[in-house]
Amino acid sequence: TASFREESMATASEIAAVGVIGAGQMGSGIAQLAAAAGCAVLLLDADSAALTRAVASISASLRRLAAKGQLSQVRRVDLPSYYPTQIGPGHSVKDAAEAFPSDKFWVRLVFQAACEDSIKRIRCVSTVQDLREADLVIEAIVENEHVKKKLFVELDKITKPSAILASNTSSISITRLASATKRPSQVIGMHFFNPPPIMRLIEIIRGADTSDEVFAAVKSFSERLGKTVICSQDYPGFIVNRILMPLINEAFWALYTGVATKEDIDTGMKLGTNHPMGPLQLADFIGLDVCLSVLRVLHNGLGDNKYSPCPLLVQYVDAGRLGKKRGVGVYSYGQKSSNVKP
Ligand code: NAI
Repeated sequence: TASFREESMATASEIAAVGVIGAGQMGSGIAQLAAAAGCAVLLLDADSAALTRAVASISASLRRLAAKGQLSQVRRVDLPSYYPTQIGPGHSVKDAAEAFPSDKFWVRLVFQAACEDSIKRIRCVSTVQDLREADLVIEAIVENEHVKKKLFVELDKITKPSAILASNTSSISITRLASATKRPSQVIGMHFFNPPPIMRLIEIIRGADTSDEVFAAVKSFSERLGKTVICSQDYPGFIVNRILMPLINEAFWALYTGVATKEDIDTGMKLGTNHPMGPLQLADFIGLDVCLSVLRVLHNGLGDNKYSPCPLLVQYVDAGRLGKKRGVGVYSYGQKSSNVKP
């Protein structure tokens, strides 16, 4: 609607309205980041229950940050008119904290207002047509090329000609997604890390035809979200998974061939290379099914046997030992392990 558009135009930036498709683990975090950075967010999911869960988790996450006085991701807040003049509309949270250096009560109120303000900027919608006004659409739906391509065809038809279409895919070719549209120069990869509000990196993937202008706009938008950006060309696994997955696979080979126990493999990599988490524990956090599918993408796409998944990893996935989300993977994680279907 016109009023929504006017509100979104109030931010002094080119990308004012952001569509986020998929309100799961990643999409909800991406919507939170965009709203906290001052954008009007249109959040779409095929499943209305996912939208309800996403709004609840975004609100809880923002309120937790507000309670701790850590809403550093909120770049802009319009305060209601009854606030003291020092922190009127247009001032940032940082300005507000500076305006009341010794008054924690006011600072907390300002943080809370910033949090409510961010939540209000998110509007849940139910059809792709509702994304007509978006300047940027970030897709974070199921990791399935056919389903994603179908969505890009629809997005290409309904979004305005200037809109940028981004995918959060961890393994699908951006060039192939772009080829489903008539605007391949405006299609790009924006690969966030889980959980998006906490992880500081965005890997930007340039498809074969992504333009310099679109890359520059997405880079500056990512920086507005408070992230550090790296740029990858469109080859299997991009940068991080290309290097991380062979490391995880090698850890599985070491375990499979009896080089060491899982604990010693993880302790070795933690203390010997200063990684915060060992590779087997990290694989459990990512999901062993996700690791296996990315390794298969690397193996198929790069055609080198060094990416061939370790049989032990394959067997764990076959057994339903998918990692932390299932309560058991390489390690066991408490009561959820009863969900495992061997
Ligand atoms: P998820 O399963 O938590 O959420 C996906 C959501 O998309 C679900 O709520 C589902 O209802 C919705 N959805 C599926 N098809 C749809 C469609 N056609 N239209 C509208 N909504 C649809 O998945 P998650 O983990 O958030 O992953 C999403 C994407 O992000 C995938 O492409 C994944 O590869 C990528 N990714 C995931 C990471 C992770 O650690 N989970 C990290 C980086 C990228």
